[in-house]
Amino acid sequence: MSTVEKSSSAEAGKAGESQAPAVETASSQQPAAVAPAPTPAPIPVLGTTSPTSAALEPNYTIAIDDTENFQTDYTSSGSDYDSLYGSDSGSATTSLTESVKNYRYHNGRRYNAYGTQYFIPNDDVQQEQLDLFHHVFLLRLQGKLFLAPIENPQKIMDVGTGTGIWAIQVAEDFPEAAVMGNDVSPIQPNWVPPNVSFEVDDFNEPWLQTPESYDFIHSRDCHAAVSNWPEFVKNAFHILKPGGWYESQEHTVEITADDGSVPEDNILKDWVRDLSDAFERIGKTCHAHPYIDKWMEETGFINIKKQYFKLPIGTWPKDPIDKEIGAFNLVNMLDATEGFTNAVYTRVLGRGNEEVAQTIKDIRKNLKNKSFHMYFRFCVTYGQKPEEH
Ligand SMILES: C[S@@+](CC[C@H](N)C(=O)[O-])C[C@H]1O[C@@H](n2cnc3c(N)ncnc32)[C@H](O)[C@@H]1O
Repeated sequence: MSTVEKSSSAEAGKAGESQAPAVETASSQQPAAVAPAPTPAPIPVLGTTSPTSAALEPNYTIAIDDTENFQTDYTSSGSDYDSLYGSDSGSATTSLTESVKNYRYHNGRRYNAYGTQYFIPNDDVQQEQLDLFHHVFLLRLQGKLFLAPIENPQKIMDVGTGTGIWAIQVAEDFPEAAVMGNDVSPIQPNWVPPNVSFEVDDFNEPWLQTPESYDFIHSRDCHAAVSNWPEFVKNAFHILKPGGWYESQEHTVEITADDGSVPEDNILKDWVRDLSDAFERIGKTCHAHPYIDKWMEETGFINIKKQYFKLPIGTWPKDPIDKEIGAFNLVNMLDATEGFTNAVYTRVLGRGNEEVAQTIKDIRKNLKNKSFHMYFRFCVTYGQKPEEH
């Protein structure tokens, strides 16, 4: 394990304060002696209008914008959002040992060198996609980096931190806290707040952090990478202080349309099924979200809360917030398609390079089909380690 000491400040947004539109909620245990989460005033999100009241209702159906002249191919009209997703995250490591940067390459994409079996690249294209996805998550949660009722955390850990964007922003929001992000890929920037550090580490190996030392542990989008989820949750519990919180944020791997506008035999449905099957085959499920609250409860967490949010793909929604999320999420998905698909289809499912290249093209074309009123979901689950256990 190696740690990169960081100095100076990085570009980062500010965690907001408002409630976001949940589509389902479940609480596996009633809060006992915990202070209720504060309910501060809503803040505007990135210059958009405020969410409509409909969007704040649980289980709301995303209304379809029928005022637009629908086009089946976004590229034909040019996307207003193309200029919004640049990133300066780049690859930036200086003091890590060279061995972890001996990246592996497959079909023109770069993968981590750590030796762990992870089938998503870590190159600039994927880093930009991760930062864009972060923006989508933040828009959905109306600027909140997390939903757990955390107060004055002193030590925060971001497990599988990726580009470190979440860790950097949480460090800016809590300058008194020491924030550590770990990952098998040393792709985090050098210019970060002084209270952030990054470590190259494999979260599928035993966690070496001091027991009962963290106030808050966060993991996001670690599905398809974790080899033993119940163990992962236990590890988080072990290194949390009594009274500390763990929050898991995972998006679902599904393509759903409430109005049935995506046919069952569409390639997008095949795609998510193939990805799910492939990740099950290598023992790294991408369907942890239905069970995370159960694993947390079995481990001993209390005050568990789970919420699902819809993430539309495309600008089909009527509500301006949903439309903006959909626009960014479409670009996110277009950026992600190749990285999500290439190695998994060729190396796990054994498909040929040419066939996979054509499949990726077809998936991207279908993602841009505006008559598909599609979305996937984002699951936020958090729980607290009891004061006494
Ligand atoms: C989809 S990315 C999510 C990154 C970040 N949490 C976010 O939400 O922006 C998953 C991250 O997990 C990392 N990862 C995969 N397997 C890992 C492992 N065994 N140990 C630590 N990190 C791992 C990958 O390198 C990648 O950066």
